[in-house]
This record gives sequence, structure tokens and C-alpha cells, in this order.
Amino acid sequence: MFYTPKKNPFTIDPFKSLIFPRPIGWISSVDKKGNANLAPYSYFNAIADDPPQIMFASAAPELPSKFKDSLANILETKEFVVNFATSITRKQMNLSSLDAFKDQDEFVIANLKKRKSRLVKPPSVADSPVNLECKLLKTLKLKSNSKKYTTMIVGEVMGIFIKDKFIKKGRVDSVAMRYVARMGYSEYTTVSSKFTMKRPD
Ligand SMILES: Cc1cc2nc3c(=O)[nH]c(=O)nc-3n(C[C@H](O)[C@H](O)[C@H](O)COP(=O)(O)O)c2cc1C
Repeated sequence: MFYTPKKNPFTIDPFKSLIFPRPIGWISSVDKKGNANLAPYSYFNAIADDPPQIMFASAAPELPSKFKDSLANILETKEFVVNFATSITRKQMNLSSLDAFKDQDEFVIANLKKRKSRLVKPPSVADSPVNLECKLLKTLKLKSNSKKYTTMIVGEVMGIFIKDKFIKKGRVDSVAMRYVARMGYSEYTTVSSKFTMKRPD
């Protein structure tokens, strides 16, 4: 089968089911008044390492606002934290995607503990194995064929917290973290196995 996105023959567009698993950036931010916000974003990835940079993309209908709360907060305060959901916190991650009012704290809604971040104001998710403390570098408006207004947010990772129990002999024990990643539809997967391959050079 071949199709173009403009003439998609499926009832449910499978695009997001074709690129998987997608890591989930669980983004915490605060507004100018210090109200905390937390939401998952699976248009998310690491994009550079010197300095480390990450991106996520936020899509919102133009009305009532072009920006979701996370992006509105990040534009206000220029800071955010990337947290990671695990098989233990997966339901709380899902709950935090609720379209809550801007001043409603999803940490409270999802009953999640906060840990004070070291370099930025937004709190870290205490139960996340890793927290990336980020400063906003740039935003980019992406092409849109509809009223959807999608913005790519690029952040520089200024500080990295890793729970000590996930560091073994100077390496990160990634599988032990049980990160949750997104597939298509309502499907998710957990990272629970690995294999290694050396580069051919
Ligand atoms: C697993 C998961 C991944 C998501 N990924 C995205 C995404 O990449 N971009 C986006 O705009 N919304 C995404 N959403 C929806 C947002 O989390 C949702 O709109 C949320 O209410 C936004 O919160 P905020 O307004 O507090 O930023 C995702 C939801 C879930 C459950």
C-alpha cells in the first residue's frame, strides 16, 4: 500500500503508529506566579549533545489560545524540566495529560511528589529516574494544514539528575528504569530488554 497524507485511506490516521516507540518527555514548568504544570509530550527527543539539547512539539488549536499551558509557561519563564514516566508512574503520566486550567497543578491532580530542581524554578517529578533541567533556546512554528498551531520547543539541558540506584559501575542501567514509550493509538511499551552491537569501525 502507498498513500499520501492528504489522501489517507484509514479511518484513524496511522502516522503516529509508524514511528515508534516514541520517548515521552514529561514536561514540568511554572508560570510567572510559580504555579506548577506537568504534561506528557511524545513528539520529543534528544537532538544534540554538545551542549545537550532536546526538543518537543506542542500542538494546539488556535482557539482559545495558540499555546498549551506548558508552552505558555516556558515562554513566560524560559525554563522547564524533562521528567520520564516509568511502568510505575504510567497512569499518573496519562492523568497529567488532562486539559486542566492553566493554574491547576497536575502534580496535585496526579498525586505526584515534587523535588526541588537545582538550577531552574520548575519542580522535578520526584519519582522520575532522571530529570533534565532545561533553559529555553528557541521555538519554531511548524507547517500546518489546519487550525492546529504546532510549535517546536528547543531546550538546552543545564543540569541532569540521575537516581543513584540506576548507576552501575559508571554506566547508566537504562533497562532497570522501565521507561514507558508511546506507540500509536492508545498503545504504549516499556523498555524491558536490550542487546548490544559494536560499530563496524
Ligand atoms: C503519552 C502522551 C503524549 C502526548 N504527546 C503530545 C505531544 O507530543 N504534543 C502535544 O501537543 N500534545 C501531546 N499530548 C497531549 C498533551 O499532554 C495534553 O494536551 C496536555 O493537556 C497538555 O498540557 P498543558 O496544556 O498543561 O501543556 C500527549 C498526551 C499523552 C497522554
